Amino acid sequence: MTLEGGETLKTLPKARWIWKKLYQYALDRGQVIGLIGGGSLLDIGGFCAATWKRGVPFISVPTSLIAQVDASIGGKTGINFRRGKNLIGVFAQPHAIWVWPGFLESLPRSELRSGWVEVFKHALIAGGNLWEAVQPISVEKPPPLPLLSEAATVKVRIVQEDPLEEKRLRFVLNLGHTLGHLWESLSQPTKRPLLHGEAVAIGLAQEAYLSHRQGYLPEATLQNILTWLEKRQYLTPLPAFSWEKCEKLLSQDKKIRSGRLLLPLLRGPGEVAPAVEVGLQTLKKAVHWYRQRYGGAD
Ligand SMILES: NC(=O)c1ccc[n+]([C@@H]2O[C@H](COP(=O)([O-])OP(=O)(O)OC[C@H]3O[C@@H](n4cnc5c(N)ncnc54)[C@H](O)[C@@H]3O)[C@@H](O)[C@H]2O)c1
Ligand SMILES: [Zn+2]
Repeated sequence: MTLEGGETLKTLPKARWIWKKLYQYALDRGQVIGLIGGGSLLDIGGFCAATWKRGVPFISVPTSLIAQVDASIGGKTGINFRRGKNLIGVFAQPHAIWVWPGFLESLPRSELRSGWVEVFKHALIAGGNLWEAVQPISVEKPPPLPLLSEAATVKVRIVQEDPLEEKRLRFVLNLGHTLGHLWESLSQPTKRPLLHGEAVAIGLAQEAYLSHRQGYLPEATLQNILTWLEKRQYLTPLPAFSWEKCEKLLSQDKKIRSGRLLLPLLRGPGEVAPAVEVGLQTLKKAVHWYRQRYGGAD
């Protein structure tokens, strides 16, 4: 089966189409589904495999940078629902993940740039050598193999310790994603939908600012993060939004527990603060700060 990639793949009608094919093939639980593609394909493909006849094994072959360092790892599968990202899904680990860096040679430039943001996020989480290694890099080229592998390992380690996000340890991987998902979702119907990584870059800047405001992240490190993103032209003006719409989308965030949003914040590269409870008004301040600094439609 071939499917056109992109975020629009992660919908219920597309899932239905895949299930229909599995029905036609009479796919049974003794067989294995192979998924070859970017994060969108792995997300929906893993979800369809995990729910078909209560779960058939699948093997993931990630072909984009995001998929190789992030989406193929950790067993989160799912689709979008209404305006919310990844609202329907299940945890399901692939039988195996096969990575071939050669796939990245044909990746469009914008997709490569989008993928580098997740590499940067993993470097922020891990600190140390990986953080040093990403400082001078060009986001126009695929990462060298050792860097690619180290960035993926950051996620592997965290997921092994907290596979189902029960200990809040895994929350840290959502760095930049609470607000990032908002911009990704709000930009979808516009002329220039943001790619996942592009939206996460904006979310990272805003959540780093929040980490600073909440007294965790020193000003110099905030500046360091912003400079890295600015230099590579990630911090673009926000898409048009109303705060009411933002609140509605944020109220569906999967990190909400009993009505409270738990946000992973940062103390510095390699030093994550415990997930902190924040009110929506606090998030609004970060959005306001960003808009004043980098622009955005009213
Ligand atoms: N499950 C997770 O843990 C997890 C983690 C991170 C991201 N994600 C999800 O992943 C999605 C983004 O993934 P993505 O950035 O890979 O985007 P994508 O899967 O939408 O792929 C982007 C585009 O690149 C094309 N493409 C993929 N590999 C290619 C290659 N080697 N050569 C040429 N073109 C290629 C695709 O066909 C598509 O058009 C988002 O929906 C995001 O929510 C999931
Ligand atoms: Zn992501």
